[in-house]
Amino acid sequence: MSLSLPRRMRRNRSSAPLRALVRETTLTADDLIQPLFVRDGEPEPVASMPGVTRHSLASLIDECGRCAAAGIRAVAIFPCIPKERKDARGECGLADDNVLFAAVAVVKRAQPGLLVIADVALDPYADHGHDGILDASGGDVANDETVEVLCRLAVREAQAGADIVAPSDMMDGRIGAVRAALDAAGFERTLILSYAAKYASAYYGPFRDAVGSGTIAAPPDKRGYQMDPANIREAALEAQLDEDEGADIVMVKPAGPYLDVIRAVREATALPLAAYQVSGEYAQIHAASHLGWLDYERTRDESLLAIKRAGADMILTYFAREVAEAMRGDRRGSAG
Ligand code: PBG
Repeated sequence: MSLSLPRRMRRNRSSAPLRALVRETTLTADDLIQPLFVRDGEPEPVASMPGVTRHSLASLIDECGRCAAAGIRAVAIFPCIPKERKDARGECGLADDNVLFAAVAVVKRAQPGLLVIADVALDPYADHGHDGILDASGGDVANDETVEVLCRLAVREAQAGADIVAPSDMMDGRIGAVRAALDAAGFERTLILSYAAKYASAYYGPFRDAVGSGTIAAPPDKRGYQMDPANIREAALEAQLDEDEGADIVMVKPAGPYLDVIRAVREATALPLAAYQVSGEYAQIHAASHLGWLDYERTRDESLLAIKRAGADMILTYFAREVAEAMRGDRRGSAG
């Protein structure tokens, strides 16, 4: 018996060429940004993030060479600072020997065509792991005082050669303040990638392991500045504010558990939109595939495609370089 159906949806899925023709979303190396960690000292692996390294300056240069060769356009660099250098005010962040400044400079020298994004926040430098300076009571992060330090940090990063500075701290008014500070220092060409909607998420665990910022004394935790995972309208408002303050690109973070937020922010602003597939999302896929419960490559690729489909123009992901390399391999493979 055959049904009399005017529309058979399966016709459009019936061969690989047809599926390619009707595909609505594609992911390319142009969409991917590789986050990288750097330290003063020898390279060492990050236990909770298989395949991720805290790089030395030398191994960072090598890794950036591999990223560029794979077609990656940008890397986002985060510093790992030894515990004994940290203090409550994160002073070592502004010191001349902050390894981040050296890292930005050597990468720009080795790979001038590769865009370098530098993180603007105090958590790598502060002994309490917060993104800013605590107020007198010690019970909260002091907004305006923190913004002033962030401005100085951003200018130092621009001086080191960063193409893009990325405030990840969630203080109010920091985008406008950083923009003004950059302009006053002659860096009107330096972009600001704003972590506009950054949630107080459990998915950052492995990152805090990577940069050693996991020693947060409670109270306070980060819920006084990062967003409540329950909220979505607030994300649109955050993005609008950052747009008004002069952000060049806005970001939603985490990505996979927040696809609805990516879509909402996509509709709230015409600015380019980034999404950050964070350390916990990466660790989850590794852990489940290590146990034999998920297919590693297919889950990885699907997770990124879903973020693109939700509306992200670009994705920060620890999978960036390997996915870009796999894409190159596929193209060669399918050319024959
Ligand atoms: C902090 C910062 C965090 C991440 C990037 N910048 C963690 C936090 O807010 O504690 C997380 C990234 C990841 O989990 O991959 N400025």
